[in-house]
Amino acid sequence: MRFGEVLKTKANEGKEKHVPVIEIQRCAECGEDVVVTIVGKETPHPNTTEHHIKWIQLYGLKKDNQLLHLGTFGLGPVYTAPEVTAHLKTAELKTIFALAYCNIHGVWENSLEI
Ligand SMILES: [Fe+2]
Repeated sequence: MRFGEVLKTKANEGKEKHVPVIEIQRCAECGEDVVVTIVGKETPHPNTTEHHIKWIQLYGLKKDNQLLHLGTFGLGPVYTAPEVTAHLKTAELKTIFALAYCNIHGVWENSLEI
């Protein structure tokens, strides 16, 4: 079995929302691109010690197909909402991937073509 076989997508979504939503915005202060990733944007995911989003990872696929690790964001239960913001230059990227880990429901993925 490969790890990719246990990754979950929108097709696996239940009433609790796990798929990380990726948005690219423009930073009003520095003018750079800002990638905002939110788990449970429409329907908030539980945020308790028993059930929470533990981490979010971002990857970028360059136009030459090199995969870059953009960041791993550790989130604590209860006080840290599952939303992260990363400044980055997107000019060399063609796709951004996000992974989000729920301590009960596993690893969820999404991507955004730029
Ligand atoms: Fe969950």
